[in-house]
Amino acid sequence: MKMLFAVVTLLTFFSLKVDGQQADKVSLGVYYETLCPDSIAFITYQLYPTIQSLGLEKINVDLVPFGKASWTESGSTISFSCQHGERECKGNKIQACAKSELDTSALIKFVNCMESASSPDRAGKSCAQKQGLNYTTIENCANGAKGSQLLKEQGVATKSLVPKPNFIPWITVNNQHTSDIQNRALDDLKGLLCDSFPQGATKPSGCK
Ligand SMILES: *[C@@H]1O[C@H](CO)[C@@H](O)[C@H](O)[C@H]1NC(C)=O
Repeated sequence: MKMLFAVVTLLTFFSLKVDGQQADKVSLGVYYETLCPDSIAFITYQLYPTIQSLGLEKINVDLVPFGKASWTESGSTISFSCQHGERECKGNKIQACAKSELDTSALIKFVNCMESASSPDRAGKSCAQKQGLNYTTIENCANGAKGSQLLKEQGVATKSLVPKPNFIPWITVNNQHTSDIQNRALDDLKGLLCDSFPQGATKPSGCK
């Protein structure tokens, strides 16, 4: 009996994993780059206020800082080229490193703080201090091989999107991208997420 229970639990777990979402949760994917004005506007005017209002209990957020960058590898060295230049690569690395260190709630707060600054790529330290985070860990990561590896992972995720992004930020909801999802996300992310729950699901109390 115990064995049967274990098997059923495992099967349930995998069937939920298959679609990349849990039954009563909505998943949001944000493919962005740190110095892109449209990404900055989305994060500060849509993402952050929406998550403040809806919380993260019923929403999975994946922030993927890469955008239209590309990379080449020679031996163990990974070199990046970013749409808004070298400084954007640095900003993307800082946020890829923060993503590996922080829970989603702290990450969204940190990213929002950086993206609200006049030079997002230079705001990591003051934003970390504001949140009581140890910036040394994030900075060491961003300046080293780990930061490159983590940024490449964001690149792999971005390059594997179907359809391929033709605009940044690129938004997915429940792993889907359509022009309706994209357009609504950019001006009513909260409404979009609230409308994306399966029928009968208990929505966050912020959905009115
Ligand atoms: C911050 O992290 C660094 C490197 O990971 C560590 O050496 C240092 O002791 C930490 N500082 C604090 C205040 O925790």
